Amino acid sequence: MTVNTLAEIEGLIRDQDDWRSRCINLIASENVMSARARAAAGSDFAHRYAEGHPGERYYRGTGYIDRIEEQLTADLKRLFACDRCEVRPISGTNANEAVFSRFVNPGDLVMVNSTPGGGHISHHRMGSLGKFTRNIIDFPLSPDGYHIDVEKSVFLIEKTRPKLIVLGKSLFLFPEPVRELAEVCRQTRTLIIYDGAHVLGLIAGKRFQQPLAEGAFLVTGSTHKTFFGSQRGVILSSMDEDSWRRIDRGAFPGSSSNHHLHTLAQMAICTREMIEFAERYSGDVIRNAKALAAALDRRGFDVQGKEHGFTESHQVAVNVGSHGGGEQVSRRLEANDIILNMNMLPHEPLSRHDHPDGIRIGVQEMTRFGMAEPEMERIAELIHECLRGGNGLKEEVHRFRGAYQQLHYCFDSLR
Ligand SMILES: Cc1ncc(COP(=O)(O)O)c(C=O)c1O
Repeated sequence: MTVNTLAEIEGLIRDQDDWRSRCINLIASENVMSARARAAAGSDFAHRYAEGHPGERYYRGTGYIDRIEEQLTADLKRLFACDRCEVRPISGTNANEAVFSRFVNPGDLVMVNSTPGGGHISHHRMGSLGKFTRNIIDFPLSPDGYHIDVEKSVFLIEKTRPKLIVLGKSLFLFPEPVRELAEVCRQTRTLIIYDGAHVLGLIAGKRFQQPLAEGAFLVTGSTHKTFFGSQRGVILSSMDEDSWRRIDRGAFPGSSSNHHLHTLAQMAICTREMIEFAERYSGDVIRNAKALAAALDRRGFDVQGKEHGFTESHQVAVNVGSHGGGEQVSRRLEANDIILNMNMLPHEPLSRHDHPDGIRIGVQEMTRFGMAEPEMERIAELIHECLRGGNGLKEEVHRFRGAYQQLHYCFDSLR
């Protein structure tokens, strides 16, 4: 459907705002920003450039953003207990590219999580890493497919001596074996990169593993999945000065030029919210994910990871092959304004990527709107009813969601 007039474009923007406020949003890679953070998107920073570092810019007129960027960097170092922080990547992929471009040379061996095993496209041949080396191998997985097989991986690392291993993934139910692989990686001089895109907010809240303390060389991440926003990327480390210079160059000019100053200002606000609320928020998110998984399990769904308590993160994975598969199920749910994604599961061949058996659910956004364990039970019930072909569910979804409109874990009420 074409959009002809400016009024129609503006109408679609309003429609999106209105519609999503009535949906049960369960996409695992999304979050919502507070009103205070959203307001910064309309600031003058949206029009400006500031290449380089605060105080040493290639542009004039950057005094205010310099102060914000300096404070944001200091806040993140404090939040993640590290010495170095790069805030200029404009996405998680951009952060990964900044690292890979400076630490991976043609032919270098890198070990990653496979796509069915939950790995992200930026770790693969077709994505960012594939631009720098084609020599990429997958971690061996345990029989359930949701854990790296540590014994086999230690053997493989000793035998092949990779330049890097990339831990962290997109289908991310349980912590990665950073501590368990740290010793062998020290012996083989393999660097541990931890992609914390999905779990950055949980790491900030100290309710998930602490990859830097456990032995990771650096952490990359998106700042808008479990972190409160804005849509950007970050690199965190306590590495030596020389190595950090490579990351610095990788970020600019390596993988970005201007770094979208309005979203940087938004991230500074969101980071203050994280400092104040991350611990309580991340505990609530993980409790809700476990509650939703258990509620779906009680209704007969094939919830993954059951023998390990379903999940330790914000995510729940369900095999819905017997309900027509992830593509069909996610469409049926969307028709009732329950929004989530299809997802490959570890047992599936790559050829099934567009018709996988799985769905991936994230509870972080609904948690921010004040939902807790009883509401997770209701969501499971609505999903169940919807897949049994129940009628009139959309109205019920709207009615239910209508009671959860106020964003929590932020300073909006203090305005
Ligand atoms: C593990 C992982 N790394 C990196 C990314 C890329 O993040 P972004 O969308 O911010 O580029 C994602 C996105 O889903 C991801 O799941």
